[in-house]
Amino acid sequence: MWFPDIFPILPFLLPLAQAHINRQDVVSQFNPVRTAYFNSTPMQVGNGDFAFGVDVTGLQTFQSFATMSSWGWHNFSLPTAPGESSVEDFRGLDWWTHGRLVNYNQPNPSQNLISNWLIQNPQRINLGRIGFWFGEGANLTQADISAKNQTLDLYSGVITSTFNVFGSEVSVKTAVDPASDTVALSIKSKLLNEEKLGVFFDFPYPKFGMKFDYPDVGRFDNVSSHVTTLKQTNNAAQITHTLDSTTYYTTIEHPGSIISGPLPSSHRYILKPSPDSSELDLTVNYSPTKFSPSNSTDAQSILKYAARGWSYYWESGAFISLPTSVPEAKEVLRRTILSQYLLAVNGAGTTPPQESGLVNNGWYGKFHLEMIAWHLTHWRLWKKPEFLNKSVPGLYTRFLQTSKDRAKAQGYAGAKWGKMTDPSGSSAPGEINSLLIWQQPHVMWFAELEYRDMPCNQTLQKWDEILHQSAEYMASMAWYNSTTKHFDLGPPMYPVSENTNPNATINPVFELAYWRFGLTVALNWKRRQGQNVPRTWTNVLNNLAPLPIVNETYPIYEGVPEMWIDPVTFTDHPAMIGIYGLLPPTPDVNLTIVANTATKISEIWDFENLFGWDFPMLAMNAARLGRSEQAIKYLLDVNFDFDDVGMPIGGPRVPTPYFPGSSSLLMAIACMAGGWDGDGGSHFPEGWDVESEGFWRCL
Ligand SMILES: *[C@@H]1O[C@H](CO)[C@@H](O)[C@H](O)[C@H]1NC(C)=O
Ligand SMILES: *[C@@H]1O[C@H](CO)[C@@H](O)[C@H](O)[C@H]1NC(C)=O
Ligand SMILES: *[C@@H]1O[C@H](CO)[C@@H](O)[C@H](O)[C@H]1NC(C)=O
Ligand SMILES: *[C@@H]1O[C@H](CO)[C@@H](O)[C@H](O)[C@H]1NC(C)=O
Ligand SMILES: *[C@@H]1O[C@H](CO)[C@@H](O)[C@H](O)[C@H]1NC(C)=O
Ligand SMILES: *[C@@H]1O[C@H](CO)[C@@H](O)[C@H](O)[C@H]1NC(C)=O
Ligand SMILES: *[C@@H]1O[C@H](CO)[C@@H](O)[C@H](O)[C@H]1NC(C)=O
Ligand SMILES: *[C@@H]1O[C@H](CO)[C@@H](O)[C@H](O)[C@H]1NC(C)=O
Ligand SMILES: *[C@@H]1O[C@H](CO)[C@@H](O)[C@H](O)[C@H]1NC(C)=O
Ligand SMILES: *[C@@H]1O[C@H](CO)[C@@H](O)[C@H](O)[C@H]1NC(C)=O
Ligand SMILES: *[C@@H]1O[C@H](CO)[C@@H](O)[C@H](O)[C@H]1NC(C)=O
Repeated sequence: MWFPDIFPILPFLLPLAQAHINRQDVVSQFNPVRTAYFNSTPMQVGNGDFAFGVDVTGLQTFQSFATMSSWGWHNFSLPTAPGESSVEDFRGLDWWTHGRLVNYNQPNPSQNLISNWLIQNPQRINLGRIGFWFGEGANLTQADISAKNQTLDLYSGVITSTFNVFGSEVSVKTAVDPASDTVALSIKSKLLNEEKLGVFFDFPYPKFGMKFDYPDVGRFDNVSSHVTTLKQTNNAAQITHTLDSTTYYTTIEHPGSIISGPLPSSHRYILKPSPDSSELDLTVNYSPTKFSPSNSTDAQSILKYAARGWSYYWESGAFISLPTSVPEAKEVLRRTILSQYLLAVNGAGTTPPQESGLVNNGWYGKFHLEMIAWHLTHWRLWKKPEFLNKSVPGLYTRFLQTSKDRAKAQGYAGAKWGKMTDPSGSSAPGEINSLLIWQQPHVMWFAELEYRDMPCNQTLQKWDEILHQSAEYMASMAWYNSTTKHFDLGPPMYPVSENTNPNATINPVFELAYWRFGLTVALNWKRRQGQNVPRTWTNVLNNLAPLPIVNETYPIYEGVPEMWIDPVTFTDHPAMIGIYGLLPPTPDVNLTIVANTATKISEIWDFENLFGWDFPMLAMNAARLGRSEQAIKYLLDVNFDFDDVGMPIGGPRVPTPYFPGSSSLLMAIACMAGGWDGDGGSHFPEGWDVESEGFWRCL
């Protein structure tokens, strides 16, 4: 449901728009085509909250790619050991923090069972598998299918797949309804008349303890751990799937067919079409509540809705084309267009996406609150706020109480946002999880970007309490050192680069700059509303520690041993460079020092161990420093790759896909097309043709 309610009337409004780029032509150049099986990633259709990943047959026939949603989650049963049998039993660890013991949400070695349970639960589930059935006893393998040819039409959100089997052609169109979690299938083949083609449905159980579960999700062989039941009515069937305390419904509308099953020792059901037609249209809806079939959701209607929703998507908001003949431009544009498609499928839901979206599971399917600025900011810069709107700020409102409880339990004021999170708002235990702080100013970031779009009291009020509580925490955790007369951040803490000693980490460059940015926005928020500004906030802002400098460069944090000498200081995220390009420069940022740091990074950083958003962050910095060629080099670095359908490759440290790579790419493209405050316009290299329309300037 990622399109606005007004979308049905939009086709009439479109001709009035100022668009001058023929967007459909640009987009369609990059329609992915597959003619072979692909082990690592599916082609996908979806709506931001729900996605269906298919193999080259257009279904999940031979490769059980996943069907995933924002709402499908499961808990394994709690441990039963004494003192570890409930969530409330969990006690974390106490660490010294400026002279007092503070309890952190970290795994407790004397409570391994409940610590691990809290990390591993809930996990996001694969809702089910849909594949071709080739007749009684056929038992085909991948090799029996020939002449495979599959195209994803990006502009209409439809995958068309054709192949040959038993000497006959099969073709199928696959789409997802923009407004419901429904897959539409339109199948054509003579084999339907011959009872040699049907469709199977299968249901997995989650794998236990799988932090990363890819390329497929769940297992189909743990049959006795879960239950499915079938209820048939005329032309429809509903399969209820119960896995422990999770239950959801699969509703299949299939005119003229019957479903049988489950097959012995499985949860597999078979739809055998009646032999009087060579066409089979069906819809499959997945829902946490019982879904009532209606005549508005037949497959052909959904194919039309998908086309309308997607044309609205492509024609609204900003757009860029790079008609330059240099091959680099074509590849940058390919990645940009495919990222736009995949983020609307995987990253526009009612909760922020996990790093692997709705493709497979990373970190048990949970989403990370420090990452959501990467996942979601591009929606606003590309002027598509309705895709961001569903999760933010509603998510922060929902999590406010648990975040206030978290701050209070540690003796701080305000609200401390969690880290590795699920829809209930609980944050998974972890040493790094509990000691990261850069998620905290994200609310100011989102609020300020929204205020540019809608500078009105409604925006101010909507964000006021969230900003207030976040700023209260930020002011309260900064620690006053009476010798230096500065407020310090940490220790203990982890900065963005998660490989420092937390008990020694103090005043990291990125976090200091982000604290300044965040508190400044919070103060302005109060002033804009004519309210008093809390003195503690001003005091911390005015006396925050200065950005540390080492040999005319910005280091990771103040006093980091052997910066630029010990490789550990140049292997993880080079977040200090984010203070110019990602963040707007705060008054104390020295651009000579920034430029020196950028040069040093380009010379010695360990790029092989970087991933995803590091490269667009470096590109934004380079572009803003006027080094456009270097920006493009970063965007096309060999360690920052996208596969044939545009899935961002994870690299040596995370599995594929890693969607922060896509969303940060779109952010960098927006900044390079629209420029920054005080430095607007194109920041692409000299000689590139850039046609762009509608971007916001970056902050
Ligand atoms: C899993 O258990 C936690 C803790 O009891 C609860 O908050 C959450 O809602 C449960 N989630 C699911 C999907 O059952
Ligand atoms: C940090 O200090 C705490 C005590 O406050 C200690 O328990 C912990 O092991 C230390 N962590 C590291 C990584 O040194
Ligand atoms: C189906 O084929 C596979 C691979 O050829 C084989 O391992 C399996 O036993 C066959 N199953 C049946 C039911 O014939
Ligand atoms: C695949 O299908 C497309 C669209 O129908 C067609 O243009 C293309 O030639 C086909 N490719 C192959 C290898 O058959
Ligand atoms: C099957 O599921 C049960 C939970 O119901 C779990 O304890 C068991 O480990 C699973 N088996 C396998 C092989 O994953
Ligand atoms: C179902 O179709 C009938 C006849 O076309 C129409 O009047 C009715 O509104 C439709 N129902 C829904 C839910 O779209
Ligand atoms: C965002 O959502 C709010 C309601 O939550 C709505 O008032 C506003 O119009 C939406 N903005 C956009 C651009 O969709
Ligand atoms: C205060 O800052 C000084 C100078 O950086 C440092 O030596 C001292 O350890 C700090 N005090 C505390 C208690 O952290
Ligand atoms: C916005 O709020 C301010 C302060 O509360 C008030 O003075 C102003 O009139 C309001 N503006 C509008 C347009 O309502
Ligand atoms: C600063 O540069 C000097 C001269 O190159 C070098 O000897 C020293 O180790 C550097 N210090 C740090 C902290 O990098
Ligand atoms: C910025 O840093 C350079 C190099 O250390 C220095 O020469 C210059 O004075 C600094 N600029 C400001 C405004 O502090």
